[in-house]
Amino acid sequence: MASLPTLNLARSAAMLLAGVGLAWSDAGCGTEDSPLLLSSSSTTTSVGSGGAGGGGAVANQGKELFDALEPILVKECGPCHTTGGPADTPFLGDPDSKMPDPYTTMTSWPGFLVKSSAKSRLLTHSSSVEHKGTKPSDALVGALEAWLTEEAKAIKDVSKEEMPTIPPFKPIVLGFNAVYLGALGENFDGMAVTFLAEELTPSTLSLTEIEVHPTSKFGVKLTHPLFTVFPSGSVDGDPDPVDSFSNVILELAAGQAGLLGPGLVVLANWKPNARLSLAFETALAVDPNGTVDPNATPCTALDSFKTNAAPKFTPCFACHNGADGAANGAVDMSELMSNPGHACGQILNRVNQMSPAKSQLFVTTNPSGAATHPFKFGGSAANYNAFKSSVTLWINDEAK
Ligand code: HEC
Ligand code: HEC
Repeated sequence: MASLPTLNLARSAAMLLAGVGLAWSDAGCGTEDSPLLLSSSSTTTSVGSGGAGGGGAVANQGKELFDALEPILVKECGPCHTTGGPADTPFLGDPDSKMPDPYTTMTSWPGFLVKSSAKSRLLTHSSSVEHKGTKPSDALVGALEAWLTEEAKAIKDVSKEEMPTIPPFKPIVLGFNAVYLGALGENFDGMAVTFLAEELTPSTLSLTEIEVHPTSKFGVKLTHPLFTVFPSGSVDGDPDPVDSFSNVILELAAGQAGLLGPGLVVLANWKPNARLSLAFETALAVDPNGTVDPNATPCTALDSFKTNAAPKFTPCFACHNGADGAANGAVDMSELMSNPGHACGQILNRVNQMSPAKSQLFVTTNPSGAATHPFKFGGSAANYNAFKSSVTLWINDEAK
């Protein structure tokens, strides 16, 4: 909490104008002919094929192909990859109760649905030597390829976009999302925007607790973030009609997390099962040039951290120790023993001091949760609870 910068509460006049196309063309992006802007008007006409939104009446070839392959997928991969399963990566959700439904979890799993389907992590990782599980059978590979190719048709290629853009992804609705910014450039590896997503009605999606997490190496400067909705099956994007963040300029130092604008947005142009992309007018990774004091720490309860928390992070250290670039980029625990103040500051960025149980470090490692983090205590609720209760002692001391 202490490290959050002052919120930029200034909302644009666009908020008041709120008339769809109007506010939008006033957005000041300077790129009159940006594909993002143009697609705004094209959706109004093309949406007809997408149906009324609420009923799920949308014809979706991808869903049909998935339904056909689901039994064999569950048979081959289900022993390890369901909720609470031993692989800690429950991309199959719960195939029996459908809560969550496998199609939903598979399509929102990071790296699975990508424009170039041959690069899908689902195929590349499962057939690689690094995979600790069984390889998919030829029959399954064929079916997965056909399905991924069909889904890819509805993913817009944003690599040529004028504004730096995160490719369309399917948010985990009613849950915690971590969207990595690596697509913006090398120095963005490990940086993420995190938020909770909830469907208020079939046509409104609220995103709350929207936070930006730079790495401990690079700070970040982001201006004018813009969420665009891609209705299921469509590459025609429909940008946030009120352009909620048009006034936002966010600067964060390396290692310091903060809210994006007011930290929340309600997208009134949502459609069930849609994707979101996130664009910025400008996005810069800022090199602090070594000006960061290595001994500085935002933690006020460092002794409690050393006693109650640090020892509990041993299982995390396996990946967050610097060996795994992605894990360390997200939360750098490499100095857990040598410089606990630094590791404490990094971990504090993932803590909710007001409601400790809602802290990202718990949400993301909870074995029964839907978050896509690759470690969930091997499915052991007991180990997770022991971790949570001890670390919470420190969080409570921090909040005093
Ligand atoms: C015997 C258990 C087991 C089975 C069966 C299994 N896996 Fe895995 N899988 C794992 C484990 C453990 C991991 C995490 C370690 C790793 O990266 O290999 C994993 C990781 C993965 C990942 C990476 C997920 C991520 O985002 O980090 C993918 C993709 C994957 N498996 C696909 C498959 C597919 C497809 C099948 C079915 C053909 C399958 N697995 C069957 C154990 C299994
Ligand atoms: C098997 C490797 C591995 C282990 C073990 C691990 N993590 Fe992670 N963690 C990652 C990776 C990889 C990322 C970045 C995710 C990405 O790039 O998609 C990450 C990201 C995170 C994030 C950022 C939010 C998110 O979900 O992306 C938090 C918080 C986190 N880890 C906490 C922990 C905690 C706490 C532990 C120990 C209880 C732990 N991790 C153990 C690999 C791991």
